[in-house]
Amino acid sequence: MVQLTLPKNSKPAKGKRWPRATMADGKRLKRTKEFRVYRYDPESGENPRIDSYGVDLTTCGPMVLDALIKIKNEIDPTLTFRRSCREGVCGSCAMNIGGGNTLACTKAISEISGSVNIYPLPHMPVVKDLVPDMTNFYAQYASIRPYLRTKTALPEKEWPQTPEDRDKLNGLYECILCACCPTACPSYWWNSERYLGPAALLQSFRWIADSRDECTGERLDDLEDPFRLYRCHTIMNCAETCPKGLNPAQAIGEIKQMLVKRSI
Ligand code: SF4
Ligand code: SF4
Ligand code: FES
Repeated sequence: MVQLTLPKNSKPAKGKRWPRATMADGKRLKRTKEFRVYRYDPESGENPRIDSYGVDLTTCGPMVLDALIKIKNEIDPTLTFRRSCREGVCGSCAMNIGGGNTLACTKAISEISGSVNIYPLPHMPVVKDLVPDMTNFYAQYASIRPYLRTKTALPEKEWPQTPEDRDKLNGLYECILCACCPTACPSYWWNSERYLGPAALLQSFRWIADSRDECTGERLDDLEDPFRLYRCHTIMNCAETCPKGLNPAQAIGEIKQMLVKRSI
């Protein structure tokens, strides 16, 4: 009989409640918000825990990333997370905030009532605290060969493209590879070694849809596989969670349609 057990260290313990900031006279600040943050160091051998930080909103920027930076700078320098652009462009600060995958730098604190719960992206190994291990995600992205593949001789200048053909890339090229969508996809949770997931498939379609690419057939051949493509069951979590407003499920549907069309 199959025995289903949770992996070791999957249940976070109650963590530390860090001292709240107070006014100069020791009185409590009126606009303090609690941030409950996942803490885990796999090398320590200890269980993950949820630490609680009280952040003074009167001296904090408006976004969840502002609060995390404030916690790191003023309360607990050991808190670990990724971030770079703070403009919703690099994708580094993707995490699970208030139960949904999103970017910490574009998620307003005011959108969340009560305490703010912050976890790393789900179903990925954790390097430390809010930093997931993206090795598999990037390897899958590399596997779709995300660059222009041509067969004709190089043109003297650039590869030309009409404005109409360029417009076909809208809704695809904007993907910042934050990994919010695959880590919200139940099919990816259970088959992340074999199913490419919504981000890599959207990126694959970005090159299939590019009028300048001359390897559409080969690209479709690579995807025609019960696991790499067909694990998508149109659950739509990907489109719901994408912080850039993209629709990977639609791109996956377009690939499936192309495969059907070329088989008849
Ligand atoms: S639509 Fe497909 S890719 Fe998107 S969440 Fe559902 S199963 Fe995953
Ligand atoms: S499709 Fe959206 S959620 Fe998925 S990786 Fe790209 S930007 Fe992130
Ligand atoms: S820091 Fe770059 S997307 Fe948030």
